[in-house]
Amino acid sequence: MNRMGVLAGTLAFTAVAGLGVARAADPVTLPKGLPADLWELLIPPDNPVTPEKIELGRALYYDKRLSKDGTVSCATCHDPAMGFGDGKAVSVGVGGQKGTRNAPTILNSIFNELQFWDGRAASLEEQAKGPMTNPVEMGMGNHDLVVEVVRAQPEYKAAFAKVFGREPTIDDVARAIATFERTAVTGNSKFDRFIAGDKTALSASAQSGWALWNGKARCNTCHPFGDATPNFSDNKFHNIGVAAKGRDFGALAREAQSAGDPDKLAKHPDFSELGRFVSTKQPKDIGSFKTSGLRDIALSAPYMHDGSEKTLLDVVKFYDRGGEPNPNLDGGIVPLKLTEQEMLDLVAFMESLTGEGDGSPTRAALLDPNRKEAKR
Ligand code: HEC
Ligand code: HEC
Repeated sequence: MNRMGVLAGTLAFTAVAGLGVARAADPVTLPKGLPADLWELLIPPDNPVTPEKIELGRALYYDKRLSKDGTVSCATCHDPAMGFGDGKAVSVGVGGQKGTRNAPTILNSIFNELQFWDGRAASLEEQAKGPMTNPVEMGMGNHDLVVEVVRAQPEYKAAFAKVFGREPTIDDVARAIATFERTAVTGNSKFDRFIAGDKTALSASAQSGWALWNGKARCNTCHPFGDATPNFSDNKFHNIGVAAKGRDFGALAREAQSAGDPDKLAKHPDFSELGRFVSTKQPKDIGSFKTSGLRDIALSAPYMHDGSEKTLLDVVKFYDRGGEPNPNLDGGIVPLKLTEQEMLDLVAFMESLTGEGDGSPTRAALLDPNRKEAKR
C-alpha cells in the first residue's frame, strides 16, 4: 500500500469541510458550547489556521516515522480511541519506556493558557517539539533528525512548500501540528444542549450533580464553566494533594532548586511530583498541577497527573476525603461530606460532558487520514 500516496491526496483536498472550514480565511465552525470568539483569539497571529495546514498537521500527528524506531506517534499516547489519551496511568514511549506522568487529552488544549501538567510550555507550538526528542516518548536524538525524516518524503516537501513556502523546519513541523490540535475540539455534549435550553438533555441525577458542582461540592471554584472557561478549568495551578502521598516535598524542593532545567525535572520520577514548582521554583507552587479541563473526561481514565485514580467515582471520593494532607494543600480542598447519591450525581454530571463522538463530522476530521486504507 502506498501510504504517502494516500497522504498526498489527503493533503491536497480533504475533509476539512467536515469541520466547517470552507476557505482558508473562514473560521472553524465550533461545536455547541465553545465560544468562537475566544477560539479565534487564541490563534497566534503568526500561525493562522488554514485547511492545508490542518491537514499537514494531522498527517504529522499520526506519523510514527517521527520517532526513533518508527513505532510511536503523537497519537500513540493521544489516541482518538482513548479519548485522545492513552488509557495508562503513565505513558509508554519508544522501547516500552515509562514516563513520569499521565497523558492528558489534547482535545480543547487550545483553551489551556499553558501546556503540560506543570505549565512549562507556553504554547502548543513549543509543546509539540518536546515529545519528539524526549528519550522516553519519541526518542529522536535531536530535532535535526526529525527534520531529515520529514524532508526525505517528497509529499511532505511539497506540502510544506505549499503551506509555509519553504523547506521543512522543526518550527514549521510544530506550527502544523499545533494548528491541527487547535481544531481538535470537543463540545455539543448533553450539558451544552441543556445550557442551550433543552431541559431534557440532562438526567435528573446529572442536574443534581451540576447543582452540587456549583454548591456543596465546590468543584466550580477551580473547574468553572463560562464564556472565558468553556473547558471547565481556571487555568491555574493547585496543590490538591495528589502528589503528596508519602513524599518529603521540602527536601525534594531544596534539591530541585539548584537542579535547574524544568524539562529535566519534569521527566525525573521524583522531581516531576513537585509539579508547577519545577517551572517557577516558587515554594507556593510545590505539588501544584494545572487544573484539568473536563470535557470528554469520562473517556480518558485513569485520572490525575499520575493516573492514580481509576474512575470518576474514585476522583470524587478523593475530593470528598479532602485530598491528601500536606503543607501546600490548596485552601479550597476540604472534606465535603457528600452522600453516596451525591457522589454518583457528580459522576453523572461529568459523564454528561462527553461530546458527540466518533460519528460527528468534527471528530472524523481528527482521525488518521490513512485510517480507511489501513483497514483494507
Ligand atoms: C509516549 C507518550 C507521548 C507521546 C508520544 C506524546 N505525548 Fe503528549 N503528552 C504525554 C504526557 C505524559 C504528557 C504530560 C507530560 C507533562 O505534563 O509533563 C503530554 C502532554 C501533552 C500536551 C499538553 C496537554 C495539556 O493539557 O497540558 C499536548 C498538547 C501534547 N502532549 C501533544 C503531543 C503531541 C503534539 C505529540 C507528538 C509530537 C505528543 N504529545 C506525543 C505523552 C505523550
Ligand atoms: C482547588 C482546586 C480544585 C477543586 C476545588 C477541584 N479540582 Fe478537580 N482538579 C484540580 C487540579 C489542580 C487537578 C489536577 C491535579 C493533579 O493531577 O495533581 C484536578 C483534576 C481533576 C480531575 C482529573 C482530570 C484528569 O484529566 O485526570 C477530575 C475528574 C476533577 N478534577 C474533578 C473535580 C471534581 C468532581 C471536583 C469537585 C468535587 C473538583 N475537581 C474540585 C483542581 C481542583
